[in-house]
Amino acid sequence: MMKRGAIIVFEGIDRCGKSTQVQLLHDVLQKSRSVELMRFPNRQTPIGQKINSYLTDKAVQLDDHVIHLLFSANRWEARNQMLETIQSGKSIIVDRYAYSGVSFSAAKGLDLDWCKDPDRGLPAPDVVIYLQLSIEEAQKRGNYGEERYETVEFQRKVKDLYENKMKDPSWKVVNASQKPEDLHNDIRSIVESVIQDVEHTPLNTLTI
Ligand code: TMP
Ligand code: MG
Repeated sequence: MMKRGAIIVFEGIDRCGKSTQVQLLHDVLQKSRSVELMRFPNRQTPIGQKINSYLTDKAVQLDDHVIHLLFSANRWEARNQMLETIQSGKSIIVDRYAYSGVSFSAAKGLDLDWCKDPDRGLPAPDVVIYLQLSIEEAQKRGNYGEERYETVEFQRKVKDLYENKMKDPSWKVVNASQKPEDLHNDIRSIVESVIQDVEHTPLNTLTI
């Protein structure tokens, strides 16, 4: 039987070190395995360009429900490519996914179930690696405030919403306040075993 790839999702508050770790993991795994990197929002597509303008330009106004649906649509437009990649045996490392969608929109006060609905049915991650970091430490890492959502009060709400999901069996919480090399080692051992464990299992769809 053909081996399938794994979907490995990374989540965390802004400035938790996620993008650095995702890149490092990709560069290291690439030497021995078939992997690719995806990032949401994908700012390259027409929908992604609209999202980017909303995030970077505070003068751009969009209803909270509308931007939520655009973030979700930006994942749906990647769905076929994700399925093809997984079925070809390649694993995907994903920088943010539906849990960002739910946590950031629900932090604005939108109904939690309403926030979950649009993403139901997307390919489900085989593991969600949550980089846990205190708001105080994230804030010290600098450049806070460059994009929409990067305020301490808002990130606190996002963090609480994420952490309601932490008991889910597919979630692995890692300590993001460690040295980057140590964090990378923790992440790598989780990922190596997930890739092996799921090779012959069917891919699920997201229920959130
Ligand atoms: P980034 O910093 O990882 O590029 O993500 C940009 C911002 O968009 C970040 O503050 C998280 C937020 N976001 C959402 O609000 N909803 C989503 O669905 C995603 C993927 C990100
Ligand atoms: Mg950011």
